[in-house]
Amino acid sequence: MSLLAQVLVCTGGACSPVCGGPPVDALKRRWKASQLYGRVHLTFTGCLGRCDRPAQVLISSHDGSRWFSAIDDPSWWDALSTWAESSAAAGRLLPMPPELNQYSQPWSSHES
Ligand code: FES
Repeated sequence: MSLLAQVLVCTGGACSPVCGGPPVDALKRRWKASQLYGRVHLTFTGCLGRCDRPAQVLISSHDGSRWFSAIDDPSWWDALSTWAESSAAAGRLLPMPPELNQYSQPWSSHES
C-alpha cells in the first residue's frame, strides 16, 4: 500500500478566516473513518506562503503539485474527501471532478 498523494491544508492567519476556514475536525474524522491516512496523507499547516489568494490547499503526488485557492464553497471539502476515498479504493489517483478543479490555480497565475 503506497502513498498516492499528500494534501496540505493551510490553517494560517490569512486562510483560516475564509468561509470559516477548513473544517479541520470534520476532515480528520472522515480521513480516520475512511482509513485514508496511509493512502492520501492529510496535513494541516501554517502559512504556505501564498497569502495573496487565501484558503490554500496544495495536493502533491508523483504527477506533480496543484494549488487550490480562494475556496469559498464549503461543499468543496466534501468533494475533496470523496475524491480521496475514491482514489484510495481504486488504488490510484482518479481525475479530479469539476467541483474540485474550479479552485485549481496554475503556478503561473501566482507568478504573474
Ligand atoms: S496563511 Fe495560508 S498561505 Fe499564508
